[in-house]
Amino acid sequence: QTRVLTGITTSGTPHLGNYVGAIRPAVASSLRADVEAFYFLADYHALIKVQDPARVQRSTLEIAATWLACGLAPEQVWFYRQSDVPEIAELNWLLTCVAGKGVLNRAHAYKASVDKNREAGEDDDAGISAGLFMYPVLMAADILLFNAHKVPVGRDQIQHIEMARDFAQRFNHLYGGAGNEHFVLPEAVIEEQVATLPGLDGRKMSKSYDNTIPLFCPRPELKKLIYSIVTDSLAPGQAKDADASNVFQLYQAFADASETASMRQAFADGIAWGEAKEALFERIDAEIAPLREKYESLMARPEEIEAILRDGAARLRDTLAAPRLAGLREAVGLRPLS
Ligand code: TYM
Repeated sequence: QTRVLTGITTSGTPHLGNYVGAIRPAVASSLRADVEAFYFLADYHALIKVQDPARVQRSTLEIAATWLACGLAPEQVWFYRQSDVPEIAELNWLLTCVAGKGVLNRAHAYKASVDKNREAGEDDDAGISAGLFMYPVLMAADILLFNAHKVPVGRDQIQHIEMARDFAQRFNHLYGGAGNEHFVLPEAVIEEQVATLPGLDGRKMSKSYDNTIPLFCPRPELKKLIYSIVTDSLAPGQAKDADASNVFQLYQAFADASETASMRQAFADGIAWGEAKEALFERIDAEIAPLREKYESLMARPEEIEAILRDGAARLRDTLAAPRLAGLREAVGLRPLS
């Protein structure tokens, strides 16, 4: 069986980018018999950006309900909240001690923060927590604790997976004798067709750009947001470049091959932006509406979600996390926890 693992940071409300880039492919592959799937809510990661406890809790609930509404069967996969599995935090330390600081210096998220500081004329590291700097190590711990082979993610996360491989290799080298590889080297899996979903302004859809379309916003709001997508000002009848259009990219992420081909033709034939947006709205809503209903009913029963998460983490710890960590502690020379 191939082990597939992915997580979503519990720092906000799930949006179409999370759905297309992570949740939808993950749920589809969880149904395959040759896959052992691990899906989790990255709430330790959320603390890097969010210092509002109520928001972290709310987001955790929303993202859990989203996975379940999208068809995840919690008894068929490992479904858990990261902070319910403290073995991850402990492995984080073991990996911190082998991770190269120079490697972390090159992390995109950290570098972007440094660049911002420079532009503002501040010290390089002003306002940057050590947590942000160490983010890729915690993510490596998520992946390596369970020896995941494949990590389905959006393009923005590829560098983190490469770093996880780097730390894994280094650990294997330091602590693994011949034939004793502690860590599998994980691979990123990118859905080519939907690698990066654009947001309302054409940049990557992201909480940090404030350009997201919430996955389960009510139908009228969905429509309003879709109509607010920024386009060029080509008039109806003028040919439009599908590949340069965020409306088209969003459409493509929700349509099958033949629908996509007809839309491409419609762009070439000069479809009006209003008409293209209407088609996009109807296409997205057709897919999302039944899930939205399930989501709303789950959100009305938070204790059920909580029970599912706790149960998932308890099983995971007993079955995999605790024994695995015991082996890793021994490998580095720490005594067993009795
Ligand atoms: P996060 O919470 O930013 O995003 C969750 C997943 O959604 C994908 N994604 C997108 N895909 C396509 N288009 C977009 N506009 C878009 N926006 C987000 C992300 O690529 C990601 O797959 N560090 C991770 C969470 C994490 C994790 C892990 C993932 C923690 N540990 C271990 C995999 C394995 C993150 O912040 O994702």
